Amino acid sequence: MTSTLQLGDTAPDFSADSTEGRIEFHSHLGDSWGVLFSHPADFTPVCTTELGRVAALKPEFDARNVKVLGLSVDGLSDHQAWSSDIAETQGTALNFPLIADPDRAVAGAYGMIHPNASNTLTVRSVFIIAPDKTVKLTLTYPASTGRNFDEVLRVIDSLQLTAKHQVATPVDWTSGDDVIIVPAVSDEDAAKKFPGGWTTVKPYLRVVPQPGS
Ligand code: BEZ
Repeated sequence: MTSTLQLGDTAPDFSADSTEGRIEFHSHLGDSWGVLFSHPADFTPVCTTELGRVAALKPEFDARNVKVLGLSVDGLSDHQAWSSDIAETQGTALNFPLIADPDRAVAGAYGMIHPNASNTLTVRSVFIIAPDKTVKLTLTYPASTGRNFDEVLRVIDSLQLTAKHQVATPVDWTSGDDVIIVPAVSDEDAAKKFPGGWTTVKPYLRVVPQPGS
């Protein structure tokens, strides 16, 4: 089965083996946010660096109430052997589940295999999933380009802020920077929500300090 998941869709639930035991995806996530990211194959160089980096960033994901899960279409015994290489070469051992998907059931449900790129390897997909299990972000990178997980954290900061306040985040925003009042909020309502005021650059571009910072 192939699929094109779109923003707002419910992330498909699944049951699969992982380096941390059997995972029932939705119940594993519980009330947390989730990041599910795919790897073309085990024992590949770019993936090895990515998994080491995400392991090093685990405290950052924990601080944001995010559970991270990697996935590769190889089997569990390969994952376990590869985990030793990751610990040895990247300085941080895997500290989150790496899902084994040898029958490609999860890869199919999430559209992680792009046949015109490769029939067997997954592309580098990232899905950010909200606590209500809806997909909030999708990213697709080619096998040859490692992802930037600081960007994944930046998007999570934006999503969590915008879920709470009626704001959007501008280009290159990082947590603590000014934000934008969304056009759906009238000036009258904005005055109640942002009593400290805002700067009107254009009527549709109203800049306000980040709420809560
Ligand atoms: C890698 O993870 O290094 C990789 C995987 C497939 C193709 C190219 C690079």
